[in-house]
Amino acid sequence: MHIEKGQVAVITGGASGIGYGLAEALAERDVRLVLSDIRADGLVSAEAMLRDRGAQVLAVKADVGVEDSVRLLAERTLDAYGRVDIVCNNAGVVCPAAPMWEQDAATWQRMISVKLLGVIHGVKAFAPLLIARGSGHILNTASSGGLAPLPGRTPYTGTMHAVVGLTETLDAELKQVSAELGATVLCPGLVDTALGANSAALGAIRADANTGRSMRDFAPPEAILSPRQVAEEAIAAIEAGRVHSAPGRGVVERAQARGEALLRDITAD
Ligand SMILES: NC(=O)c1ccc[n+]([C@@H]2O[C@H](COP(=O)([O-])OP(=O)(O)OC[C@H]3O[C@@H](n4cnc5c(N)ncnc54)[C@H](O)[C@@H]3O)[C@@H](O)[C@H]2O)c1
Repeated sequence: MHIEKGQVAVITGGASGIGYGLAEALAERDVRLVLSDIRADGLVSAEAMLRDRGAQVLAVKADVGVEDSVRLLAERTLDAYGRVDIVCNNAGVVCPAAPMWEQDAATWQRMISVKLLGVIHGVKAFAPLLIARGSGHILNTASSGGLAPLPGRTPYTGTMHAVVGLTETLDAELKQVSAELGATVLCPGLVDTALGANSAALGAIRADANTGRSMRDFAPPEAILSPRQVAEEAIAAIEAGRVHSAPGRGVVERAQARGEALLRDITAD
């Protein structure tokens, strides 16, 4: 899908990080925005920053884990612009670090609600609108943890693997309707965002001494992408009609190792 002036993009989790990077990158292409987030304060400042840069933006508070909230987001989008072209199901939180047998049910429920049902609600609310227009694209943010194991974060990796799998199938289903429709799953490695601080503010993890620190404090700078770099990679994948985008150092190698191990195992049967 070619991204061009006049189109409308909806971005969940748009107040910060990758979502905000997508908003900036799309606004620079004269795409009109619906910026959505659960954090009203973050949303207000992100909206103001985008307006200062000349973007046309409507801010809508919504919780992606609540189906009615996402349905209302779709209604607000149509009321404001009368169309939607690009849907970025991007909102997310991280889970506490622990082996699977120590992760509690509440953590699983939160990750399933935000990371998995959040995407499902976005597809349910917006795919019929894209289909009615006859064109459009859905971008689902997963993670490199959806392409390969990430020990200590099973509620995160489990839901991210689900988002990778459902996006591959969603793309096939959309293509059966029209060649002008499609879906892409974004699986970045480490990105310099406030994911830890925002996840703590939303109660998904406990705040500690590291919570407010930059990811650049924990990994070499060349191993960490900026949100804007990730956004540009995602847009390139959408425009190329690719189903997967996996920017970040080491991500391809980890995915390749998993793919090879999988093939080795199943061809041994
Ligand atoms: N930062 C990384 O290294 C990284 C790597 C791979 C994937 N991701 C994924 O990218 C996505 C964006 O994360 P980020 O790193 O930009 O973090 P971020 O915290 O900067 O942005 C996520 C946004 O989602 C919002 N959000 C959380 N729960 C929500 C809900 N229920 N409804 C609506 N909005 C909600 C938060 O308020 C926040 O503004 C997440 O899904 C995350 O899992 C992040």
